Amino acid sequence: MGDARRFDAFADLIVRNVAPETAIADVAGGKGGLMAALYRRQYRNVESWDKRHKNAQGRRGYQYGYFDWRSAPRHYGCVVGMHADEATDHVVMYALKHRVPFILCPCCVKPNAAKFTGNQYEPWIKHLGDIARIGGYNVIETALPIHGRSRVLIGRP
Ligand SMILES: C[S@@+](CC[C@H](N)C(=O)[O-])C[C@H]1O[C@@H](n2cnc3c(N)ncnc32)[C@H](O)[C@@H]1O
Repeated sequence: MGDARRFDAFADLIVRNVAPETAIADVAGGKGGLMAALYRRQYRNVESWDKRHKNAQGRRGYQYGYFDWRSAPRHYGCVVGMHADEATDHVVMYALKHRVPFILCPCCVKPNAAKFTGNQYEPWIKHLGDIARIGGYNVIETALPIHGRSRVLIGRP
């Protein structure tokens, strides 16, 4: 069970880095906690992707489906991922493809879009940042004031 404060903490970080009118893809949004936190902060242009049908069903702003960096629509001006499991590296790859910023709070080591061997968290964080840096991104690291997986990568082209 993740820290329930993670959505507000992540939303506050997004507020400090992304303009409210930006089209944001909330990748692997689960039950929509981050989208709701952003809505409370007047962010009305957020789409939350999740591959679990029960999370997406009937909810406004939800995109039910598998977020794949190669096929996801290109209109997003920023892509974010909170504990996005195997969608984590798709966030970085999508950002690089469309030259938009990303903000990522990784949790589990679940490589999917880019090759990575091993299962250690520290090398995983470095790997995600390296993909972006090799692609010409400036990457900074910070942390959310939450328990558990709290580290965040912010990448800008
Ligand atoms: C650990 S949960 C976190 C959900 C939410 N971000 C949170 O913090 O509560 C990971 C979620 O990622 C979704 N997911 C994983 N890979 C995905 C992908 N490629 N596209 C869409 N959803 C994905 C799963 O269905 C699951 O709901």
